[in-house]
Amino acid sequence: MIEFDSLFTQLEDTRLHKWVEPLKQQLDGIFEAIPHGKHDEWGAVLQQLPELNTRHCDYASDIVTAGTKTDITPQQSEQLLGLLKQLQPWRKGPYQLFDIHIDTEWHSDWKWQRIKDHLSPLKDRLVLDIGCGNGYHMWRMLGEGAKLVIGADPSRLFLNQFTAIKHYMGKQLPIHILPLRGEDLPDFNQQGFDTVFSMGVLYHRKSPFNHLQELKSFIKPGGELVLETLVIEGDENTLLVPEGRYAKMRNVWFIPSVAMLERWLKRLGFKDIKIADVNLTSMDEQRVTPWMDYESLSDFLDPDDPSLTIEGYPAPLRACLVCTL
Ligand SMILES: C[S@@+](CC[C@H](N)C(=O)[O-])C[C@H]1O[C@@H](n2cnc3c(N)ncnc32)[C@H](O)[C@@H]1O
Repeated sequence: MIEFDSLFTQLEDTRLHKWVEPLKQQLDGIFEAIPHGKHDEWGAVLQQLPELNTRHCDYASDIVTAGTKTDITPQQSEQLLGLLKQLQPWRKGPYQLFDIHIDTEWHSDWKWQRIKDHLSPLKDRLVLDIGCGNGYHMWRMLGEGAKLVIGADPSRLFLNQFTAIKHYMGKQLPIHILPLRGEDLPDFNQQGFDTVFSMGVLYHRKSPFNHLQELKSFIKPGGELVLETLVIEGDENTLLVPEGRYAKMRNVWFIPSVAMLERWLKRLGFKDIKIADVNLTSMDEQRVTPWMDYESLSDFLDPDDPSLTIEGYPAPLRACLVCTL
């Protein structure tokens, strides 16, 4: 059910058409080349998704929605619920499929609310979202009128979640996730996208400059970068490199101040740098739900002082910067 043919067709009609051949080669046999223990299990879930007539879709509102209560019978709803539960944990959302509300770990709609008014209008734009998760924000980008939205994320689970959502939203829609890391995208260097998003990825990369350089190579002259990441308070010389884990995450390498981030962007030639948002993550925004029943933010903070992580670092503070090339 996961297929890329419609992506290739849609790319052919854009200035990104040179990307088709290298991408085809890269994606050919990728699921065999990089196997995943749950590949067959998740594949079976997608195969069993009931075929339903979806009369109403909405990806321009906070709850990304496909179908209504009247499009599904109680038996079909029970079957779909069981299948979607097999794709847990659901981290980014919220979504509504027919009468099923997927209450995800994150209120990703809150982040979108905070940043959307700071973006250049996405209408008719070619958009790339590096580290897109299961694609929640990509739907919102499409909802703003983007011409084509492509995400890149190595998580196989999130790709399966996205495929389940798209199954009901409309299989021919110009929205696609590539199961690739940002650094593994084909040598792009054609500076083709109008807007490139990197949200929640920078601190996972061992070399932040390499990541920013890659993002730059995807953007056309005059295009926009939307960079969202963990930050700490401080001046342009302030940077946190956690000794071990940060908020129980093993893969957090660099947390700069906003001022240092601005300097990094300037050094790489980005202009018109705007601080769209700085926000302390709340336990209402990231929490345990019936769709994500592992640990969440409240378990990552010091129970006696929630301004600190369990390791004693400042609690997660996130900034979003918007700049042009
Ligand atoms: C914190 S989540 C952010 C998801 C979404 N962008 C958001 O803002 O809610 C980080 C995502 O980046 C992905 N990721 C991690 N390393 C990556 C890389 N090198 N290239 C692309 N995506 C990556 C993870 O799989 C995960 O889905």
